[in-house]
Amino acid sequence: MIKIIRSVESMKKLSDGFREKGLSIGFVPTMGYLHDGHLSLVKEAKRQNDLVVVSIFVNPTQFGPREDLKKYPRDLKRDLKILSKYKVDMVFHPSAGEMYPDVYKTCIEVKGLSDKLCGASRPGHFKGVTTIVAKLFNIVKPDTAYFGEKDYQQQVIIKKMVKDLNMGVKIVSMPTIREKDGLAMSSRNKYLNKDERAKALVINKALKFAKVLVKSGVKSSARIRAAMTKLMRTAKYLKIDYVSICDPETLDEKRTVKGKTLIATAVYVGRTRLVDNIVIK
Ligand code: PAJ
Repeated sequence: MIKIIRSVESMKKLSDGFREKGLSIGFVPTMGYLHDGHLSLVKEAKRQNDLVVVSIFVNPTQFGPREDLKKYPRDLKRDLKILSKYKVDMVFHPSAGEMYPDVYKTCIEVKGLSDKLCGASRPGHFKGVTTIVAKLFNIVKPDTAYFGEKDYQQQVIIKKMVKDLNMGVKIVSMPTIREKDGLAMSSRNKYLNKDERAKALVINKALKFAKVLVKSGVKSSARIRAAMTKLMRTAKYLKIDYVSICDPETLDEKRTVKGKTLIATAVYVGRTRLVDNIVIK
């Protein structure tokens, strides 16, 4: 039976016990409302470890004041049912007060990476992410933690945090899982109405188009960005936040597509902000 742990102290004690026994702990941090993207991480964690811990915590510090913290989809019952099918051993599901007591003061920030791409339009977002992930690592004490490339910048920042702070956790990143029609799976897709859902397809189409352009010899980032923007502008309800063509490690913008390149975009479809990306080798 799946075990639900709500207190930091109990989770730490359990993890200490497993580590003493020499069992490896795989960890998948999530905000819940699980879909196949999350579950691909769970599957890999199961495959590589003796035990798997999934956290479900909608982290308030990574949401801006005008963002969707309140309405972020939550369905613990459904999530637990899914996770028991996958034979996950433990779900860590703390309250906001348990993670951030009133006297809470500390943050972790990965400078230079957290203000680019999504960080530019979501100030403070990645500071919230790195802080909660560092806390979760200290509580769950995993050997390996799993992150999705759908949130490419997030896993780059977390890898850098782990390296810079000498954290003893191995980070594994996994490919983006998509709906059959190409839309990247996301808990936020639930916000889309039928029309918006149809229009959202243009995001992946634009990324694929960019890849075709590169393969056919177009190397100028400006030209690729212009072509993607033009394509996405054909869709009603869509507002482009950014199209970045950058180095996949430093996230520095590239003028030309040479070597491994990340093409990442964030787009508002109606009021829903969606991200997607593609890596060109
Ligand atoms: P959440 O959006 O719930 O995502 C949890 C993990 O699932 C992240 O590593 C994310 O990249 C991955 N994921 C989401 N959609 C995916 C998809 N379509 N394919 C593959 N992986 C996918 O990301 C967060 O939560 C939070 O920021 C968190 C790291 C939990 C910190 O609060």
